[in-house]
Amino acid sequence: MHARIRTFTMLALMAGSLAAHGHGDVTPQAVDVSTLKPLGDQKRDENPYRGDKEAIRIGTSAYNQNCARCHGLEAISGGIAPDLRKLDIDKETDIYFRDSVLRGKVRNGAVYMPPFEGILSQEAIWAIRSYLDTRHEVAAAPANEMETLAKKSNCLSCHAVDTRGVGPAYREVAKKYAKDKNAEAKLLAKVKKGGSGNWGKVPMPPMNTVPESDLKALVKWIMAGAN
Ligand code: HEC
Ligand code: HEC
Repeated sequence: MHARIRTFTMLALMAGSLAAHGHGDVTPQAVDVSTLKPLGDQKRDENPYRGDKEAIRIGTSAYNQNCARCHGLEAISGGIAPDLRKLDIDKETDIYFRDSVLRGKVRNGAVYMPPFEGILSQEAIWAIRSYLDTRHEVAAAPANEMETLAKKSNCLSCHAVDTRGVGPAYREVAKKYAKDKNAEAKLLAKVKKGGSGNWGKVPMPPMNTVPESDLKALVKWIMAGAN
C-alpha cells in the first residue's frame, strides 16, 4: 500500500511539473514505422538504423511525443530527467538504452520513468535512438579517479561538479553542509535511500545498487569539494 501511494505521488509530481513546462504530450503515442525496414521479434543489441535518414525523421517525432516531456525538447534536459545527449554511441549503450526504454525506471515501487514495453515497437525505439545519436554531445572526460567512480555509479547522469543538472552541483552540496559535522553520515543515508526536499521537488532515486564503500567514498569526495 505504502509503495502504491509513493508511486502515485511520484507520477503526480512528474505530471505536475510537466504540465508546468508544457513539454510535449503526456499520453504515450503509437508511432508509425511502416516506412522502416521491419526488425522482427528478436531483440537487437545494436541500433540497426544508425544514420538512416528516415529513422531519424520518425525518431524525432516519436521522441517529441513520448520522451520530451521529461527529457526535454530537442533532448536538452530541463532538469527532471537525465540529458540523453550524453549517452555514448556504442553497442553497450545501445543495449542499456533499449532496456531502459522497455523496462522504464521503477525502483521500490516508485515510477521514475514508465516502461514502454508493449507501447513502442522495437522499430520505434531504435528510431528514437537514431535521432538521439544526432543530438549527441561528448561529455567532458572525467578529471580524476573519483569522478570516474561517480560516472560509473551513474551519479553523473543527474549531477555535475559545478553546474546544476537534475540534481544540485556537487560544489553547491559541499557549500551547503560545510558547517554540519554530521553531513557525511546524513548524506550517505540520503543517497542510499533517495528522496527530495532539500533542493526541490524532484526526488533522487535510491542509489543502493552501488556498493556502500563506493557511496561512502563518493560522499567524502563531494564534501571535500569534488576536486
Ligand atoms: C515521466 C518522465 C519520463 C518519460 C516520459 C521518459 N523518461 Fe526516460 N527517464 C526518466 C527519469 C526520471 C530517468 C532517470 C531515472 C533513474 O535514473 O532512475 C530516466 C532515464 C532514462 C534513461 C537512462 C539515462 C541514463 O543516463 O542513465 C534513458 C535511456 C531514457 N530515460 C530514455 C527515455 C526515452 C527514449 C523515452 C521516451 C520513449 C523516455 N525516457 C521517457 C523520466 C522519463
Ligand atoms: C536520477 C537522478 C539522480 C541520480 C542518478 C543521482 N542523484 Fe543525487 N540527487 C538528485 C536530486 C534530484 C537531488 C536533490 C534531492 C533533494 O532535493 O533533496 C540529489 C541530491 C544529492 C545530494 C545532496 C542530498 C541532500 O539532501 O542535500 C547528494 C550528496 C547526492 N545527490 C549524491 C549522489 C550520488 C553520490 C549519486 C550516485 C551514487 C547520485 N547522487 C545519483 C538526483 C540524482
